[in-house]
Amino acid sequence: MRVLLTGHQGYLGTVMAPVLSAAGHEVTGLDSGLFADCVLGPPPTDPPGLAADLRDVPAEALRGFDAVIHLAALSNDPLGSLAPELTYDINHHASVRLARLARDAGVRRFLYASTCSVYGASGGDELVTEDAPLRPLTPYAESKVRVEDELVKLADADFTPVFLRNATAFGFSPRLRADIVLNNLVGHAHLAGEIKVLSDGTPWRPLVHVLDIAEAFAAALTAPREVVHARAFNVGGEQNNVTVAEIAATVAEAVPGASVTITGETGADPRSYRVDFSRLRAALPAAEARRTVKDGAIELIDAYRRHGLTREAFERRFTRLARLADRQAEGTVNAELRPS
Ligand SMILES: NC(=O)c1ccc[n+]([C@@H]2O[C@H](COP(=O)([O-])OP(=O)(O)OC[C@H]3O[C@@H](n4cnc5c(N)ncnc54)[C@H](O)[C@@H]3O)[C@@H](O)[C@H]2O)c1
Repeated sequence: MRVLLTGHQGYLGTVMAPVLSAAGHEVTGLDSGLFADCVLGPPPTDPPGLAADLRDVPAEALRGFDAVIHLAALSNDPLGSLAPELTYDINHHASVRLARLARDAGVRRFLYASTCSVYGASGGDELVTEDAPLRPLTPYAESKVRVEDELVKLADADFTPVFLRNATAFGFSPRLRADIVLNNLVGHAHLAGEIKVLSDGTPWRPLVHVLDIAEAFAAALTAPREVVHARAFNVGGEQNNVTVAEIAATVAEAVPGASVTITGETGADPRSYRVDFSRLRAALPAAEARRTVKDGAIELIDAYRRHGLTREAFERRFTRLARLADRQAEGTVNAELRPS
């Protein structure tokens, strides 16, 4: 298939592009390159791509593709809360616009990178399925809900949107993110020998390895239309529904000598949910998430050591919010987060 992959120079996109190419797809990227230089280790080989802001994508850019995989976004809660209007412009309005352009250009399938944080404060020990009420707690999560709501209305005989609600990712990507929980805690263990948990450690978090996400998208790309048409899928596996305290303990096992401190200073965290992934397994057996949190912790500590992750890079270059602030201070990104 000819696939347009937005966000191909991000954490997930950099891992997904080679998975799609290896599956025989012809991949073209689209990214404004906000984090293109946030690389740990040997630089990745990107597919051919268009350097463009999502908000400005011209209609012609969508012509000739069989499918769009839409990853480009301001990708986390703190970013969204800092600049809610930009989060809505990029994550919501520009995403819906992209989907309309895709449909008008005859693109038949549109895979949307949503998130399990749409469940927000679902709480309790019940596993949440795709039919659970959505209770987004942040502009980031709210923007994802709005896009799902609008894209489902675009579904018709020729256009199939699919909503892949990813758990929080972990694992090595050449374009690393250090601001997601496992990658972050392994970084602290590596740099300081201390795994510091600021909450009380009790909130549940569903996690998923970045390669398992890439494989789920690859499976959804070619699945029969009736299996995926206008449906949401939680992406992950129940074995990786873990508490923050369990994540910290797993990191301590992978990094001998590192100690765990649970400070509890931020108190209880309202975002706590355990997720049911059975719909994904039933519909797309090839997409079963196989990699464990322990696998990820071992892989990450090995990569951090091998590539010499420094504290400066960990705190600034690989932390999305800090990197954007630094680029704004350098004058290479403007107030609207367009490269300048
Ligand atoms: N990483 C996770 O844990 C996770 C979990 C659930 C969902 N997701 C979703 O998956 C997608 C990818 O996440 P990621 O972790 O790779 O994030 P990332 O920040 O590493 O990558 C996002 C990419 O989008 C690009 N981008 C941002 N704004 C843009 C714009 N206006 N125009 C063009 N390109 C733009 C950035 O340059 C970057 O390359 C996002 O939609 C995110 O919400 C991620």
